[in-house]
Amino acid sequence: MDIEIKNICCIGAGYVGGPTMSVIADKCPNININVVDKNSERIRLWNSQDFELLPIYEPGLDKIISRCRGKNLTFSTKIQEKISCADMIFISVNTPTKTKGIGAGHASDLKWVEACAREVALFAKGHTIVVEKSTLPVKTAEVIKNILEASQPNSNEIKKTFDVLSNPEFLAEGSAIRDLEEPDRVLIGGESDDAIMALSNIYKNWVPEDKILHTNIWSSELSKLTANAFLAQRISSINSISALCESTGADVREVSRAIGLDSRIGEKFLNSGPGFGGSCFKKDILNLVYLSRFFDLNEVADFWEGVVKLNTWHQHRLSKLIVQNLFGTISGKKICILGFAFKANTNDTRESAAINICKDLLDEGAFLSIHDPKVSKEQINNDLGIESLKSEINYSEIDDFFNFEGKWVFENSIYKATEKSDAVVVLTEWKEYTRINWKEVSQKMRKPSWIFDARSILDKQEIINNDLLLWRIGDGSKHS
Ligand code: NAD
Ligand code: UGA
Repeated sequence: MDIEIKNICCIGAGYVGGPTMSVIADKCPNININVVDKNSERIRLWNSQDFELLPIYEPGLDKIISRCRGKNLTFSTKIQEKISCADMIFISVNTPTKTKGIGAGHASDLKWVEACAREVALFAKGHTIVVEKSTLPVKTAEVIKNILEASQPNSNEIKKTFDVLSNPEFLAEGSAIRDLEEPDRVLIGGESDDAIMALSNIYKNWVPEDKILHTNIWSSELSKLTANAFLAQRISSINSISALCESTGADVREVSRAIGLDSRIGEKFLNSGPGFGGSCFKKDILNLVYLSRFFDLNEVADFWEGVVKLNTWHQHRLSKLIVQNLFGTISGKKICILGFAFKANTNDTRESAAINICKDLLDEGAFLSIHDPKVSKEQINNDLGIESLKSEINYSEIDDFFNFEGKWVFENSIYKATEKSDAVVVLTEWKEYTRINWKEVSQKMRKPSWIFDARSILDKQEIINNDLLLWRIGDGSKHS
């Protein structure tokens, strides 16, 4: 039986729900898409006339929103109403790591997924296809199904029926629109062929059929966790080698290139950096670790846990290196941090390496001036747990920063941020940092002045030519 989808409701207007539904709306003008969220402020921002105010920054998203919003795409807090008129409901809520109770620190907290399932159970009408878009532990579909099936109305009302599908999302932030428009694959797991076809038919509007994979529901759930674990594992692998390069005189860029040309390894995801961040890699690996231990597979759990441990070690390794190079102490010194987002082209800071590194530097008594083109001061306040200094600082009046130990200030200008600094640390690979005038920066900094390029994006020769000392991730040559 062909199921035609006319109304979609997506619960969760976040980094996944927002872009994913915008692209579906753009590609399928005949389907009405209602994105709902309990966070009214977030919804207000999704409805902003000024696209600069959209709650997430994602290149290309503003154009799609301007084409679809108010036509076949809406953002609202009308959760019950939009659930009740939907043929298909995407659950796209957050699934963070549990902070307390059984599995704390490893297992995913499914309370919001369960809350959604209960709302769907209550307000859905007729037949509804429920799609897991959030990343979920294997077997979550069973929980959702149980909740849905326990929700039948009184005997004189029309019976509700449900199908549950798993359709994990593989987009990466910063390239979400491209990833959604040209996905490597779309994965759909489920038991009902009709429901699978209904969802496939939506994707077929723009995704070639051979890229739409059908699997059983558990393979689909597990594939998402596995994909993230494999990607993160590559980063921990190359970051571990960066440390070895620095000790041996090798260069991690050369090693990456050499191994990446082996077609069995491939060149992507081999950039050594300050350690992976983002809301999902750590959470999803820890989830895999939890599942493995649950099934008594301790060696499997230990293997994957190593990827996260290496990442944490690597972030603190960078903080220590900065302190060591600045004569073993940074108290009373000013350090300029360029980039706070966990990667370029996003305003997201969740699990950003910058958080651990800045906290380490503040603990050591440094004064930080932090710049990021898209992350707000308020977000950094939250992440560091310390408020930015409120008043503008006139650096020309200051000789040392002993009165500023453990404090930080948000700077809108890169050049102001570097003023009187002992070091500049590049933590996010924003394009604008590759265009910095190092001559100007060198004149503003205190000597000896260090540049720590944790993303390997700066022109080495230009830095050195401007009387600056350079440390680059994974660079074992003694060039500075
Ligand atoms: P997010 O925190 O940005 O957004 C989740 C939204 O869900 C929030 O706005 C929250 O208010 C809303 N919400 C929670 N419970 C709700 C409820 N009961 N009713 C209505 N709204 C509710 O999260 P995200 O980054 O979009 O991630 C969502 C899921 O997608 C996670 O499982 C994540 O692992 C997965 N994922 C994320 C990415 C990514 O790049 N961020 C990529 C692929 C998959
Ligand atoms: C990642 C995956 O790439 C997506 O496929 C997945 O859907 C998503 O997680 C998710 O489930 O949330 P994302 O975290 O948005 O996407 O961004 P990535 O490009 O994967 O980068 C993650 C982190 O690894 C960033 O901190 C990035 O700077 C770092 N990274 C990435 C490196 O240090 N080196 C690399 O070579 C690549």
